[in-house]
Amino acid sequence: MIRSRTMSAAFPIQPIGRFVGASPPVKRPKEFACFSYNENFEYRLDDSSLRYYYTPRIGADLSKGFEKFRKADESKDGHLDSLLKTIKAHEQDVGKRIDANIVSWRGMLTKILAAPFEQFDGFEMNATLYQGCIFIEENFEHKVKSRANEDRGKPRRGPPLEVMQYWGYKFETLATLPKPWGETPRDYIENREEEVVDNIAQYCSVVRTGIGKAVLCLGGEVDAVWDSKPRETGAPINWVELKTSAEIRGPGDLEGFHRKLMKFWIQSFLLGVPKIIVGFRTRDGILADVQEIETHRIPETVNAKPNPKWNADMCVNFAAVFLEWLMETINDEGVWRICRRPQSPTIEVFKVQETGHGDIISDEFKNWRIKL
Ligand code: A3P
Ligand code: MG
Ligand code: MG
Repeated sequence: MIRSRTMSAAFPIQPIGRFVGASPPVKRPKEFACFSYNENFEYRLDDSSLRYYYTPRIGADLSKGFEKFRKADESKDGHLDSLLKTIKAHEQDVGKRIDANIVSWRGMLTKILAAPFEQFDGFEMNATLYQGCIFIEENFEHKVKSRANEDRGKPRRGPPLEVMQYWGYKFETLATLPKPWGETPRDYIENREEEVVDNIAQYCSVVRTGIGKAVLCLGGEVDAVWDSKPRETGAPINWVELKTSAEIRGPGDLEGFHRKLMKFWIQSFLLGVPKIIVGFRTRDGILADVQEIETHRIPETVNAKPNPKWNADMCVNFAAVFLEWLMETINDEGVWRICRRPQSPTIEVFKVQETGHGDIISDEFKNWRIKL
């Protein structure tokens, strides 16, 4: 038996003071590919599930139709499969490998950028080095466990959590059309409050971006486009991120909202989404107001208040240093775990499997890369 040498390293998040200072300009993320899931969760190498923004009606009831909600099956681990399928198709097109140092879902990078200011959310990811690039997925068991803990909680007032979660998807349905306005039948627009809501169909953008020395290829869901996608690839796209949030009734609510803006900002910044549309709702889920927020203005808005709870430059500086360290640390085959326990001052990285790539890289992708 080969005795395994356990590789393990820890990156200190604290003290975060060392990440203060303007972050170097980040190249604008550029979409180079996309894919969709249809309403049966079938993969499509196209933009068929892209939706178009359309102002929703103030006063709409976000709970309406909850009993008909078509919910995605979250019991299966999809790994990076759809992202890799899309990268493969792109590489077939251009005849060469993408140049990324890191390939992952946008959600993983959101957790990393948020780490300096997020004390309670732990995370667990699996990573593997393959042909000089680190592929990072969410550790599925950890995701399932943390979702279950979220749902347990203490006894609470107000509507059930599932209903509150539905509000977010209902808002997406109310604020978008499946075709541009000019091609949408009038009765769809008039009856869209009766539309069955699902969170299965999705449009995912695949972008190339960079943080510090790391070139990243990220895949992530985009909720809608403001107008339509430009024809040339790489041209800026007027993406829209849709969010719901409780109405702001006082200074405490405003502070809470500014905290929430961190995740909104990171998530949108990573894919290059320029606009976030927030549907403010009453405590019982009636749409009360809609506001457009420019993503690039969020950092200054938050900094303008006394005692801001987070700082965008520090998120980016932290990620730049961490990713550079990660690229030095994950230098060998096998499967690695990237792990932050709640409230821990460090991110730990250690090997969980000596050889191979676990299930992080699909056979389809490996077979393709062997041919390329
Ligand atoms: P809101 O963000 O309006 O609450 P996204 O904002 O990323 O497009 O996600 C759409 C909706 O999915 C959210 O709407 C919320 O209802 C639900 N959602 C996203 N992440 C979630 C999580 N970690 N736990 C529970 N629900 C989540
Ligand atoms: Mg979304
Ligand atoms: Mg959204």
